[in-house]
Amino acid sequence: MGKVTDTPQWHTLEQAAQQVRRTHMRDIAADPGRGRTVASGAGLHLDWSRQRVSAEVLAGLLELARACGLHQRVEAMFTGERINATEKRAVLHTALRAAPGKHVIVDGVDCVALASATRAAMATFTDAVLSGAARGCTGAQFTDVVNIGIGGSDLGPVMVAEALRDQVTGLRPHFISNIDPTDAFETLRGLNPETTLVLIASKTFTTAETMANARLVRQWLVDGLPAASDVGQHLVALSTAVGLASDFGVLPERVFGFWDWVGGRYSVASAIGLSVMLAVGVDTFEELLAGMRAMDEHFLAAPSGENLPVLMGLLGVWNRDFLDIPTRAVLPYEQYLHRLPAYLQQLTMESNGKSVGLDGTPVTVQTAPILWGEPGTNGQHSFHQLIHQGTQAVACDVIVFARSRHDAAGQHLTLLANALAQAQVMALGRSATELAEAGVAADLIAHKVMPGNRPCTLISAPMLTAHALGALIALYEHATFVEGVIWGINSFDQWGVEYGKEVATALVPLLQGDRAAADVPEFTQASVELLRSMQ
Ligand code: F6P
Repeated sequence: MGKVTDTPQWHTLEQAAQQVRRTHMRDIAADPGRGRTVASGAGLHLDWSRQRVSAEVLAGLLELARACGLHQRVEAMFTGERINATEKRAVLHTALRAAPGKHVIVDGVDCVALASATRAAMATFTDAVLSGAARGCTGAQFTDVVNIGIGGSDLGPVMVAEALRDQVTGLRPHFISNIDPTDAFETLRGLNPETTLVLIASKTFTTAETMANARLVRQWLVDGLPAASDVGQHLVALSTAVGLASDFGVLPERVFGFWDWVGGRYSVASAIGLSVMLAVGVDTFEELLAGMRAMDEHFLAAPSGENLPVLMGLLGVWNRDFLDIPTRAVLPYEQYLHRLPAYLQQLTMESNGKSVGLDGTPVTVQTAPILWGEPGTNGQHSFHQLIHQGTQAVACDVIVFARSRHDAAGQHLTLLANALAQAQVMALGRSATELAEAGVAADLIAHKVMPGNRPCTLISAPMLTAHALGALIALYEHATFVEGVIWGINSFDQWGVEYGKEVATALVPLLQGDRAAADVPEFTQASVELLRSMQ
């Protein structure tokens, strides 16, 4: 297939977009022939009734997906084809949570069996730690777990641990990611080496930040334990690089592996999730994976017009490429999901922040939007002004749960009312006529008009459980993949983050005073000298 923008399906949607741009959301919403705008799957509900999508546009998007061979690409991913073409790797985060008895064979190896065996080892270790059978070198029971990792080796575990915070019955989870020594200092402050278990989470076991922090924390253990030889009792590695983990001093039985067919930003269901399992226990972690599996099965089986990841992915393409909206806000009206936007930033922008297609030529579409967000209602007191009256439209995902885990005096109903109110005003706005009819002073009307036409998807579920969280994670994972298929890009490599690491490595000796260490641009040299003058 050539460029997606050369297809008749794309041209049809461009025509439809011209019509939609001339039609306000108010009229689209009022269209009796619009058809269904809610779909359900894996315990979640996706409501696109506030999206600028008519029945014609939806049909066009589904036709575009068919023309792009979406169904075939989904099958290719789930069956272990090497769809990560530039790294020649399969993409099998779905194998991490596949039902027992499923088999996905890559190079003669059953990936599902591998994942199940590792998860069983994780569970055995977790049970030993939480029962006290596995203790620190002084005999003290572990009370805290520190996960050292960055990117996908941090953001997923942090987000899930925070989302399930009131279900932490095991070790208290802590996370170090930034090479800024303040991160380790503040995280370790108040922790006792004798009762702290340290996980070094790194797919490659080479990431500079993670290895620097691993050395720093290992020294913290050495300084705080009776003998340096005891450190091994407190160290665990989560990695594909078993040899490097052993070289670091991690005991072989404390290395929990995963494989190159698990992308970092898709890895929370792998050994990378061990900090979560140690915090919430094996059963709750299994519930998380059950939710992911439910969404996987829905993604595979549901007709495209009722398929939540397909619909969400196509809405993403529609808003980005046809309505020309370059940014997307994720607004969880659930405080426990306060780290969800940060997690989704890596998932979506490291996956689809690309400008070259699978064919190696520049894309002819706009790809990933800038994703950001904060929980509601806090965002309403921060950036919602821009959403409602800024010069640039923002596409929003509003996430709500019918029941709170901690309702006090009906506050949860007020939270829900705010979520629905924001979604309504984003879509419909408030016209000058409505303002005048409401008696607003004439000289203020212009200042109070809200254009609306800010597209919003409402995602809902009964309550934030581990299962619902798993389904939500998988929904975004697969929607990201759908977008990548339509855009014709590889969503699973990340070449753009490599060069910056090389430049940083070359700059360290310069900052240490070795002026000949590297040939750098004048502005960098000037900054190095200014910073050194202040040290
Ligand atoms: O940001 C680049 C990246 O490779 C991510 O894709 C990955 O999640 C992160 O760095 C950490 O990599 P590792 O788990 O190998 O330390």
